[in-house]
Amino acid sequence: AEMNRELRERLITLKKERNAIILAHYYQRDEIQEVADFRGDSFLLAQKAASTDAEVIVFCGVHFMGESAKILAPNKTVLIPDERAGCPMADMVNVDGLRKMKAKHPNAKVVTYINSSAEIKAETDICCTSSNAVKVINSVDADEIIWVPDKNLGHYVQQHTDKKLIIWEGYCNTHDMLTIKDVIEMRALHPGAEFVVHPECRPEVVAMGDFVGSTTAILDYCKNSTNKKFIVGTEDGTGYQLRLDSPDKEFHFATKFLVCPNMKVNNLKKLVKCLETMQPQIYVPPAIADQARTSLERMLQVK
Ligand code: 13P
Ligand code: SF4
Repeated sequence: AEMNRELRERLITLKKERNAIILAHYYQRDEIQEVADFRGDSFLLAQKAASTDAEVIVFCGVHFMGESAKILAPNKTVLIPDERAGCPMADMVNVDGLRKMKAKHPNAKVVTYINSSAEIKAETDICCTSSNAVKVINSVDADEIIWVPDKNLGHYVQQHTDKKLIIWEGYCNTHDMLTIKDVIEMRALHPGAEFVVHPECRPEVVAMGDFVGSTTAILDYCKNSTNKKFIVGTEDGTGYQLRLDSPDKEFHFATKFLVCPNMKVNNLKKLVKCLETMQPQIYVPPAIADQARTSLERMLQVK
């Protein structure tokens, strides 16, 4: 506790010296969410990165999120506490494979989940996040959509649009771990609790949800619901904001496996160190960034 107090004080000084802003995803460790200037889901954090006046953005999240920030704000320095924080789902699609799919479906437009590399975004018509996926798909001027990389979110979106999705076979190792059996067991343990679930979970699990939505949608729903008990089907870091918003409510994570190990690679110590040393920095080759930027900017413009 004493060490964390010292680290937090050091951080306040460094933030001023560097003119830095700290952005933290809701899946980060509590000790990081506590000191962030903004906590958010991937959509809000991309918006913040695009609009901030700070010279330095410290992105506490996984690598693709830092990349998106760098693409949207190419003149800023973007730091990440630990560059080993990757996203296995983002790594499930490669440029070669996507190009082959595009060649097979020449009339389709490519909609890419923001959980993807800069190289994939450079091959994309428009990006989306889990909070705006349906809106983005419906805004696209094509009947056929190549959807990468999340098959579970793709399945969910397909149920809410008339367009035909051609779905890539990627998934989130963390959300995909949750099973029907886990939810049945939790419901038996906590009668009356509502099950709120992220659409990165398997279709049959999503179908059990009393509420289905992105990280922010789940947070809003639980905050405003009159119910007092919830079984949560998304990453365990969201507990920080859920409990902050509703200290009088009960939140039970649907399994103890709903932890994204990559998100947890960052910690307060590494956060302070990266601002001290100004390393590691996110680098995106400018030619790739220029091609990828349009797909992100289009997403930010969808109303
Ligand atoms: P959102 O922040 O869009 O809900 O994304 C979930 C996620 O898995 C981020 O890695
Ligand atoms: Fe990737 Fe899933 Fe972790 Fe999000 S929670 S960073 S999608 S592995």
